[in-house]
Amino acid sequence: MCGIVGYSGLRPAVPVLLNGLKRLEYRGYDSAGVALQVDGGLVVEKREGKVASLAKALGGIEGSSGIEASTCGIAHTRWATHGPPTRANAHPHVSSRRLALVHNGIVENHAALRGKLRAAGYEFVSETDTEVLVHLVDSNYAGNLLEAVTEALHDVEGTYGIACVAADEPGVLVVARRGSPIVIGLGEEETVVASDAAAIIKHTRQAVYLDDNDVARIEGGEVEIRSLDAMPVTRAAAEIDWSDDAAEKGGYEHYMLKEIFEQPEAIRNTIRGRMDADRGNAILSGLNLAPRELAEIRRLLIVGCGTSMNAGLVGEYAVEDFAGIPGEVEQAADFRYRNPIVGSRDLVLAISQSGETADTLAAVREAKDKGALVAGLVNVVGSTIARETGRGIYLHAGPEISVASTKAFTSQVSVLLMIALKFARGHRMSRERGMEFVREIEALPGLVERVLARNDEIAAIAGRFVEFEHSFFIGRGYLYPVALEGALKLKEISYIHAEGYHAAELKHGPIALLEKRVPVVALLNDGPGKDKTLGNVAECQARSSPVLGIVTEGDEEARRAVDGCIEVPPAPLHTAVVPATVALQLFAYHVARLRGCAIDQPRNLAKSVTVE
Ligand code: AGP
Repeated sequence: MCGIVGYSGLRPAVPVLLNGLKRLEYRGYDSAGVALQVDGGLVVEKREGKVASLAKALGGIEGSSGIEASTCGIAHTRWATHGPPTRANAHPHVSSRRLALVHNGIVENHAALRGKLRAAGYEFVSETDTEVLVHLVDSNYAGNLLEAVTEALHDVEGTYGIACVAADEPGVLVVARRGSPIVIGLGEEETVVASDAAAIIKHTRQAVYLDDNDVARIEGGEVEIRSLDAMPVTRAAAEIDWSDDAAEKGGYEHYMLKEIFEQPEAIRNTIRGRMDADRGNAILSGLNLAPRELAEIRRLLIVGCGTSMNAGLVGEYAVEDFAGIPGEVEQAADFRYRNPIVGSRDLVLAISQSGETADTLAAVREAKDKGALVAGLVNVVGSTIARETGRGIYLHAGPEISVASTKAFTSQVSVLLMIALKFARGHRMSRERGMEFVREIEALPGLVERVLARNDEIAAIAGRFVEFEHSFFIGRGYLYPVALEGALKLKEISYIHAEGYHAAELKHGPIALLEKRVPVVALLNDGPGKDKTLGNVAECQARSSPVLGIVTEGDEEARRAVDGCIEVPPAPLHTAVVPATVALQLFAYHVARLRGCAIDQPRNLAKSVTVE
């Protein structure tokens, strides 16, 4: 999820572009760049690292390059998906015929397009999917940028939000969108375009949001929108009524809430291009393992910390349940100091959103020393764990800013289900069952959307929890990791002491703590184990603990058994994990908000624990 800004008008473009990038830096910040129209040519500057590095570089060439006089340009701050965060991979990408382009999204058929363009004589200087786009536009360019972009996009599969300029068309920007937002800010004889309104509201609150397959030509204050079929399109302008602070967070009060609501899109990005519906299988090329090598693996050993470890538990259950191979989750620090029994028939999967967690990195190194096959399940491209494992699967969930991990968890679970499918299809799972499994995974974004629609209802329920200081979360089977994750969310952002327990474990000690001031959150999704957990609920209520149930929509038995409930859509338990967790993410968020806690930066916590 990258940041895009473009400007065409009467003012100097550089300040508009840099200020816009700074407002979007939360979207991606591993490299940044600009392309500016100057005296009939293009000046392109790109730097690794934050926008400040780019600003310093531009300051250094003002006066000599003429960029201070430029009134038209594009800019980008990158969240790497294809190719590590290097200067060469930073956007804008350019073509020899004096075009420059920035992109947010994923070009799924970039490899095929790269081959065709190479055969046509194009040379590539980066590892990105985006560079394919600028050469594709170039191959269609005959002096009309709008036409060239429109033609090129017919060949593109995947998602894009793009902005493009040509040296030979002064003052002209062309933008387009499919799956990644582009908003056009309408000013007096000027236009600011961006991937997010946060970069626009400083200049105007009148905005036009492109729809999928829209292409727009902008020149000063003139905006012409067309479809990919080159037909004129009318898009009504809307008033952006965000506060400045809210704009930083895409209109949400906290990054955590924004990231909770991003989950349907994040999961779509995670599974995009990785599901083979016809063969009922997953396409996980990043594992770089042939079916025969996969068949040789005798155990999946998962290492991680915190939320990543909780997600790993779902993976453990799924590979055992569907692939019939042993799965085991280890707390990364424990793994590295325990002299574990690990060998060449083990696949050690290191799960880490940041890719920098010290304990998980150490576990990777220990596993490699013991001869295991190691892979990473990481969100940050080019991070240390991603590089040191050398193989794995990127989440593509976009930057997760809030310390409390939310969309990373549901994306991790989505990938783990795909890994379980991959192993299962290499063992006893039939093609038909695999096709059904693919549909179950593809249904995840819709399940999450149905929970998000209950946000206000969950906020009201959270209001009854605000005064408590202690709580338990209980679940069984696939729902046990959900209990752990729900408890972790509540404790880390609301500071209410919350313990996640296997539902059957409560009576082996913790039940001594139950009384009316100690509520219990019970995972009661309809499926195997629910009846036993209903029995545990009765045991809790017999000790006067109020019980909040996560129950399946329409399950009257479960609804009647609890003192309050949050309903989630029906789903098989291995995928019910995701909507149930989202319900508990929203629950924890609203309890913390009502307690006035510093939700995005809770006390004592860091987003990435890079020390032991
Ligand atoms: C989860 O909300 C916490 N932020 C924390 O437990 C986190 O999951 C853990 O530190 C692991 O981080 P990683 O996924 O970046 O390795």
